[in-house]
Amino acid sequence: MFEQRLTMNSTINALVTGGAGFIGSHLVDRLLADGAAVTVLDNFSTGKHENLVPHDKLQVVAGDVGDYATVERLAQGMTWIFHEAAVASVPATIDDPVGSHQTNYVGTLNVLEAARKHRVQRVMFAASAAAYGDLPEIPKTETMAVKPLSPYAVDKLASEYICRVYHQLYGVETVCLRYFNVFGPRQDPSSPYSGVISVFTDRVSKGQAPTIFGDGEQTRDFVYVADVVAANIQAATVAGIGGETFNIANQRQTSLNELLRQVCAVYGKNLQPGYDAPRAGDIKHSLADTGKARNILQWQPKVGLQQGLQALIDSLRGA
Ligand SMILES: NC(=O)c1ccc[n+]([C@@H]2O[C@H](COP(=O)([O-])OP(=O)(O)OC[C@H]3O[C@@H](n4cnc5c(N)ncnc54)[C@H](O)[C@@H]3O)[C@@H](O)[C@H]2O)c1
Repeated sequence: MFEQRLTMNSTINALVTGGAGFIGSHLVDRLLADGAAVTVLDNFSTGKHENLVPHDKLQVVAGDVGDYATVERLAQGMTWIFHEAAVASVPATIDDPVGSHQTNYVGTLNVLEAARKHRVQRVMFAASAAAYGDLPEIPKTETMAVKPLSPYAVDKLASEYICRVYHQLYGVETVCLRYFNVFGPRQDPSSPYSGVISVFTDRVSKGQAPTIFGDGEQTRDFVYVADVVAANIQAATVAGIGGETFNIANQRQTSLNELLRQVCAVYGKNLQPGYDAPRAGDIKHSLADTGKARNILQWQPKVGLQQGLQALIDSLRGA
């Protein structure tokens, strides 16, 4: 209802860092479909070439967002930068806090400095609900206290702060989108730490019962990847929102037990999960208040969990 299509009188040039990854590649598809010229910067650590369909307006650069010279070169002539590149696994950042900081914080700083130098119109940053940590009050609004619990969350939050500082000090237009639990096609189920929906669908499709860490009554707020892409387009195009942060979620709480029931229902299978000890650092409940995004970003999610699961499973079946 609210969503904009890009109307391009002049060419939009968009740089998507992490554009070969799960969310980034969907964003690339949408930008190309809307007529933008897109450059992807990705080091292919978790991103995949097969996530990107060759296109005459797509340029793919293998490189590191932690390398300022690379980012600065690519920022030249850009209208927008969508900064999706990150070490997106919390455990990976716990294993390597120094290395991941180079991507997760320094990479953001590099993007901002390059945007300042080349007068990029707007920078969209993939922030995270991890910033809220395990403070019990829900639903989360953007002004609530934060409590990052991992190097990942600290770097995401610090990146938000430096985005705001670049807006205040230098007038770089930045918009931070705090994604909650994103799901959809191309999310890699191979790591046990990747999105729980990709892990559940992978296991259930093979007739194997997944393991749930904890009692399964922990809840998450799942948001479909196409809605996240739409939020990015709004963030790039709505006037007067430089320096702002928005929650991007469905504003629906789903327990992992309920999620598994829904995945089983789509596959027509009846599987009982195994239960294991809760994982260190896992939070009990996660739920967003998305009122600010609705009112100011003029965005609201269109795909509910059930519809999104069906679309995901259809895509896995090659439908
Ligand atoms: N998936 C979610 O639920 C979720 C939730 C909150 C925030 N986010 C954020 O959204 C963004 C995209 O996440 P995703 O789920 O698509 O993960 P992903 O791992 O699929 O995508 C990240 C991409 O960044 C690339 N990358 C990593 N380090 C890089 C570097 N140093 N230089 C260049 N490229 C690099 C990877 O190769 C990959 O293509 C990330 O910033 C992530 O932290 C995701």
